[in-house]
Amino acid sequence: MAGFLEGKNIAVTGGGAGIGKAIALACADEGANVVVADYGVAMDGSDPTSEVADAAVAEIRARGAGAVAVAGDISAFDVGEEVVAAACDTWGSIDGVVCPAGVLRERMLFNMAEDEWDAVIAVHLKGHFNVYRAAFARMRKQETGGSLVGFTSAAFTASTAQANYSAAKGGIVSLTRSAAMTAASLRMRGGPAINANCIAPVARTRMSENVPFEIETGEPEDIAPMAIYLMSDAGRDVNAQIYTVVGRRISVWNQPVELRTMWAPGDRWSPAEIADLLPSTIGQEPNPFIDDLERRMAQMAQDEAGG
Ligand SMILES: NC(=O)c1ccc[n+]([C@@H]2O[C@H](COP(=O)([O-])OP(=O)(O)OC[C@H]3O[C@@H](n4cnc5c(N)ncnc54)[C@H](O)[C@@H]3O)[C@@H](O)[C@H]2O)c1
Repeated sequence: MAGFLEGKNIAVTGGGAGIGKAIALACADEGANVVVADYGVAMDGSDPTSEVADAAVAEIRARGAGAVAVAGDISAFDVGEEVVAAACDTWGSIDGVVCPAGVLRERMLFNMAEDEWDAVIAVHLKGHFNVYRAAFARMRKQETGGSLVGFTSAAFTASTAQANYSAAKGGIVSLTRSAAMTAASLRMRGGPAINANCIAPVARTRMSENVPFEIETGEPEDIAPMAIYLMSDAGRDVNAQIYTVVGRRISVWNQPVELRTMWAPGDRWSPAEIADLLPSTIGQEPNPFIDDLERRMAQMAQDEAGG
């Protein structure tokens, strides 16, 4: 039986370790040729080595699929183009890109150094832009279109000790929705089918090792089937969605919309009128993340008290 990605050419950033590697191997098992784009760095982005990408390529080839390595830093604009060109030059097209490459530099906002902000935004957010931009430019000229699969995190909603990571992951959501809108507009004008979606995964990797509270988790291999589905012909009409994927669970996120409105009694609001009317009209939305934080902090305090 033909695989879900038979004959497709897929690039996976961060494809040498963790979730990216599990996806790269699974894509190969589903019939794809794979570009493994991995800088081979430590979790904070230091000590790059090409051995990580090369090792994954060797594993994929041993399974009988085509694979090439790009061991550059995905935050460099030209590396995005290099990754996409590797697929096009070697096999003739780029049918899907998956972007799990990532680093962590955790720090409370008030202590965060400029380079900690820059590095995380560069690898996650600009890394997505670099790959999406290069891939989209090719896909819009291919009759068969293609798929963009971004990697966000539930932390895109907010994070107490990872403001840089949270901001990057929120940016990836907006970037992906923008790509999806552009793709939809092209398709409405008779262009090829391109879809763009995000996965917010949770899986046991070095990145999730140090989370200071108990989390629902699973294995990197649990994430791969959703990435594959979104890039397959069967998933092509799914567009502009964010999916949590963890273990056996796949959940879809809501789309952001305005909820309630209040109108100025005169030509323009005064602060006093807002103070008077806001609490009894549009007020404040309950924030589930602050509620969750309260629950987790209470749990940590209990654990500490119990030794
Ligand atoms: N593991 C989880 O539970 C979890 C939870 C939420 C979100 N995520 C997201 O999923 C993605 C994958 O996470 P993971 O746990 O597999 O991480 P990981 O640390 O195991 O793997 C990340 C890979 O990205 C590569 N990489 C880092 N910087 C790079 C760069 N500049 N250019 C190219 N490659 C680079 C690394 O070499 C590594 O192979 C990340 O975007 C992460 O933020 C993971």
